[in-house]
Amino acid sequence: MSFDFFAPCPRGLEAPLAAELAEIAQRRLPPGALQLGADVPGGVHFRGNWAGGMAANLHSRIASRVLLKIAQRPYRGEQDIYALAREQQWEKWFSPNETIRIDITAIKSPLRSLEFATLRVKDAICDRMRDKAGARPSVDTAYPDVRVFAFLTANDCTLYLDTSGEPLFKRGWRLDKGAAPLRENLAAGILRLTGWTPEMPLYDPMCGSGTFLAEAAQVALDIAPGLSRSFGFERLKQADTAAWRHLKSEANTLRNSAMSRATDLHIFGSDISDVMLEKARANFARAGLGKVPLKQLDARNMTPPAVGNGVLVANPPYGERIEVRGRNARGEARAPREMRDDYEEQEAFRRVHTDAPDAEFFQALGDALKQRFTGWRAFFLTSDRKLPGQLRLREAAKTPLFNGALECRLFRFDLIAGSVRQRPASAGQDVAAGKNPGSADQNS
Ligand SMILES: C[S@@+](CC[C@H](N)C(=O)[O-])C[C@H]1O[C@@H](n2cnc3c(N)ncnc32)[C@H](O)[C@@H]1O
Repeated sequence: MSFDFFAPCPRGLEAPLAAELAEIAQRRLPPGALQLGADVPGGVHFRGNWAGGMAANLHSRIASRVLLKIAQRPYRGEQDIYALAREQQWEKWFSPNETIRIDITAIKSPLRSLEFATLRVKDAICDRMRDKAGARPSVDTAYPDVRVFAFLTANDCTLYLDTSGEPLFKRGWRLDKGAAPLRENLAAGILRLTGWTPEMPLYDPMCGSGTFLAEAAQVALDIAPGLSRSFGFERLKQADTAAWRHLKSEANTLRNSAMSRATDLHIFGSDISDVMLEKARANFARAGLGKVPLKQLDARNMTPPAVGNGVLVANPPYGERIEVRGRNARGEARAPREMRDDYEEQEAFRRVHTDAPDAEFFQALGDALKQRFTGWRAFFLTSDRKLPGQLRLREAAKTPLFNGALECRLFRFDLIAGSVRQRPASAGQDVAAGKNPGSADQNS
């Protein structure tokens, strides 16, 4: 049996996701199990059988979810949406004992209230189940067994069953405490955009809880990102359990053989915060990635951690203020100890309580890049368009990406011997990169 799937992803990562899905089809599946469709803003369509949908869940590092299309039809109002949902054979997918949650996203929908439309989809599913299965499912918005998504455009309503459950950036190994600002699937997509491959050194000098490093280590070791978690499709009646057992057992075999190669990683991290490094170590341990070397270091003092031209990637603290620890001559306030294990809380605190300009920190960081990282390519994800000016480096490329709702740029700097492109701090912040953003030119 074949289905239409849609894999949403962080905006800006559609092309890397399409490339990744093509690789999954080629490396993990028999021919025809996953056939790529169009990539559209916010995700990629594909067609496939159960194994295709399951493999996308298990192996995609970039997708946020994998949604299975149930129905699509033009609509004008809530009643049309109710009728479409009421006609679907939900009883074939789950029983009334399962709890449900409905989510609606809309682009240019004429409807006035999406909440009301959500209620109508819920009513339709419950009415159908009461008729056909003798009881209605309960709603659980926090931990539902089954999630239904409705996507509304100006004219069409599409209903999807979510085969992922929890979003796919939740790999199952991150410690909950101390929210990490960077989602795993965004980090994985950025790694792909950098053109990094496991033979090259990779260094994150502001690694925080280690998201880039953990994602890179899993790529290097060929560890399926979904191996430590469960999926929504495991609760669906029609799911092909034999195909799932096969896919999982293959991925387990790969992981077990990868563990013996763990010493070959060329992945390095440092951060000024010992608290963040503790978190990174705990995360690596839970993910079975014990051998990523980490150092407590001010990024201004960084040196290449390995011989050879590598890739440096980081998302420096956002915002116009940064606390530069260890050189805070003005003695600005620091977050109290009990606050220091929550990064976002710390950042909010710093913005309010510190007055140290970014400029000095980023200028010193730029100097470190120019003086010590010849031959490397550096990538910074930030919402601050002034970053190249602050580093005094001219970017080779800039790729628009969204970190949640926050519009960011992934700036690339090529630190080529004798030709590092200097840029005065006063240069306009949005000077064109001279090359298209995106993955195509990332290795040039
Ligand atoms: C936005 S966070 C990076 C988050 C990280 N990508 C993760 O996955 O958790 C920025 C990091 O920069 C670190 N940082 C701030 N000032 C620094 C400095 N002077 N040198 C090195 N790291 C610094 C912070 O401790 C924080 O962990």
